[in-house]
Amino acid sequence: MAQLSNRITTLNSGGSDGWEVFYRAQKMAADGVDVTHLTIGEHDIGTAPQILDFMHKSARGGHTGYAAVPGTNSLRQTIASRVSHRSGQDTRPAHVMVTPGGQAGLFAAHMALCNPGDTALHIEPYYATYPGTIRAASAKPVALPTRARDAFLPDPIRLRDLATETGARTLLINSPNNPTGTVYPRATLEAIAEICIDLDMWLISDEVYDTQIWEGEHLSPRALPGMAERTLTIGSMSKSHAMTGSRIGWIIGPDEAVSALIDLATTTTYGVPGFLQDAAEFALNQGTPLEDEVAAPFRRRRALALEVLAGQDTVTAIPSQGAMYLMLDIRKTGLSGRAFAEALLDAHHIAVMPGESFGPSGAGHLRVALTVDDDALRDALTILCAFAKEHCQ
Ligand SMILES: Cc1ncc(COP(=O)(O)O)c(C=O)c1O
Repeated sequence: MAQLSNRITTLNSGGSDGWEVFYRAQKMAADGVDVTHLTIGEHDIGTAPQILDFMHKSARGGHTGYAAVPGTNSLRQTIASRVSHRSGQDTRPAHVMVTPGGQAGLFAAHMALCNPGDTALHIEPYYATYPGTIRAASAKPVALPTRARDAFLPDPIRLRDLATETGARTLLINSPNNPTGTVYPRATLEAIAEICIDLDMWLISDEVYDTQIWEGEHLSPRALPGMAERTLTIGSMSKSHAMTGSRIGWIIGPDEAVSALIDLATTTTYGVPGFLQDAAEFALNQGTPLEDEVAAPFRRRRALALEVLAGQDTVTAIPSQGAMYLMLDIRKTGLSGRAFAEALLDAHHIAVMPGESFGPSGAGHLRVALTVDDDALRDALTILCAFAKEHCQ
């Protein structure tokens, strides 16, 4: 075969460690082993039947041809109203670009903002695709490490130093956060905004978990003074409406940036299928009752998980306020996240993600996805804690 591009062959280079546990768990399940999967951020429910009915009606009604590349006018209007309402920041359809999911939005945002070779910052631990997404846009990913004792929140002084040192063009943040579950407080977001303004950087704010807030409130940094003109916000129907497979999300940004993003979409995705856009609009028009219904199991299971953890003192949860995960500190066992996860899978067929899969800052931790039913979660966490205790002796 002739040579592939450096861009594509280096997408995953220097990437995360520990995904072997996940792949091994998948293989065990395929071989018939009864594995409890606490790995992937996907609901244990499907898309609501009324959304599927609407999708079907739209497709049968003929919305199966090429669709509007930036999104249909009515979907852009619906998203703009939702974003205005939730963030308090005036948002019009011209600020909205519909994308095939949040992931495509993250890629398009870096393509739109970074020239080849530019440094693009992100915070560690990170959602596993981040470095590859930045490399796909021919930019250079640089991670700011964070510490468990700071609940994995970025330290603004270290962030400013790193941004200055690297001459970074963009900063990608994610709140509520995957994998840590932390929701960035106002003070952190204000400090980040100040750094972006002072250093003339763009902020890419990944808010795909904005409906999963268990404590406090979600603040969208685009609404902070001076930030609307230098922020691209990524949203998605995946987590809020259990529509992961429908691949539909959006980018919010200044209208000139959105025009450029439409040119990019014209040469790449050519838009999102019309029946999926119609279904997304229908789902958004159900308002918060449906979003709350989709989020409710995670809220309940988080409370249940904290209850199990409160009954012992070997494993501790990183204080978190949102998202469908808990990050557990297992450093008292002396094992790495990877070694613990491998051993737990072998001994008890429980699959969790080693913290190292999300970058070195996650070492000595595990990410647990709250995506199995309550009883299975309670049993799995009880076993996990007992297993940790055995390894302390
Ligand atoms: C932090 C974060 N951003 C973006 C995504 C991408 O989501 P989607 O492309 O399904 O919208 C995910 C998915 O797990 C995520 O956890």
